[in-house]
Amino acid sequence: MDGLNELKSRILAAIDAAADESTLEELRVSAIGKKGEVSLKMRELGKMTPEERQVAGPALNALKDEINSALVAKKTALADAALDARLATEWLDVTLPGRNAARPAGSVHPISQVTEEISAIFADMGFAVAEGPQIETDWYNFDALNIPPHHPARQEFDTFYMHRDDSEDRPPHVLRTHTSPVQIRAMEKTGAPIRVIAPGRVYRSDYDQTHTPMFHQIEGLAIGKDISMANLKWTLEEFCRAFFEVDDVELRFRASHFPFTEPSAEVDLRCSWDNGQLKVGEGDDWMEILGSGMVHPHVLRSAGVDPDEYQGFAFGIGIDRLAMLKYGIPDLRAFFDSDLRWLRHYGFGALDMPTLHGGLSK
Ligand code: PHE
Repeated sequence: MDGLNELKSRILAAIDAAADESTLEELRVSAIGKKGEVSLKMRELGKMTPEERQVAGPALNALKDEINSALVAKKTALADAALDARLATEWLDVTLPGRNAARPAGSVHPISQVTEEISAIFADMGFAVAEGPQIETDWYNFDALNIPPHHPARQEFDTFYMHRDDSEDRPPHVLRTHTSPVQIRAMEKTGAPIRVIAPGRVYRSDYDQTHTPMFHQIEGLAIGKDISMANLKWTLEEFCRAFFEVDDVELRFRASHFPFTEPSAEVDLRCSWDNGQLKVGEGDDWMEILGSGMVHPHVLRSAGVDPDEYQGFAFGIGIDRLAMLKYGIPDLRAFFDSDLRWLRHYGFGALDMPTLHGGLSK
């Protein structure tokens, strides 16, 4: 067939020179499309003699196949080249620091820090952590703790009462005034013996330099067959040694009164003030840090524990107070103002973890 070789080399050269996919597509249509040059030649086969056809037919088919393969190969080559071009321009330097590197790291609030420190110290002494709700029934907050209605101790707490219609048939609720209701909840849950601490928020209507309407306590409770006041004293001394990071702590147990403990003691810490900085374990000052005592039999009974079989101690520590003392922070109100400058100054790094007797592992 005339000119077949010329046709072949012209088409293959054009395919080879094509710069993009749309040019390739045009070439495909003009060569082997319905009205393409090769297709038109194929139509001529009908007019040929059988001898001519025997030569031209396979030659045209072979040409068509060759053009097809050349198109596919060129298409792949173009796609590869496009990818190479993209890779050359859009490369990524994986050794660059992350975009977040400039984001300032937050800090741990002194209350969270001190709560962690206290919890870690008591955890080392075998105390588990218990929790209770901040909106509490007056039964858990008062009655179960041996503070019946109209008891004068209810007034001492400056309680926030939740609004309630007399027609409502749910019990009166309060914002818990202390973490002591968690004593009841914990004993109801696991019975005795038990050894727990319960950190959390508490609320009283009070506001000055050392009081905010919301503050934090850690309740401690240890109930067993023969747990005594001596165990209470050792536990608290051990705690203070670890918390204030001094070996010579001296505690003073002052007789006091709480309806839920008998006997009750408020505990003072020997200290001195040097230029506004607290020194623990020396000097002639005493600072009250917590309330404590032997759990009252009525309280055990309220929680379903038999006071003839079990006894033990409880204490309530003011977390905010300890944070102010340990880290020399003068005004409690600033704790809860969310002032970033204050938080940056007094905040802690995420890894400043406390250890028993080791102080902070900074
Ligand atoms: N709940 C008491 C208070 O808030 C503290 C306390 C707890 C006293 C446990 C004795 C025993 O003042």
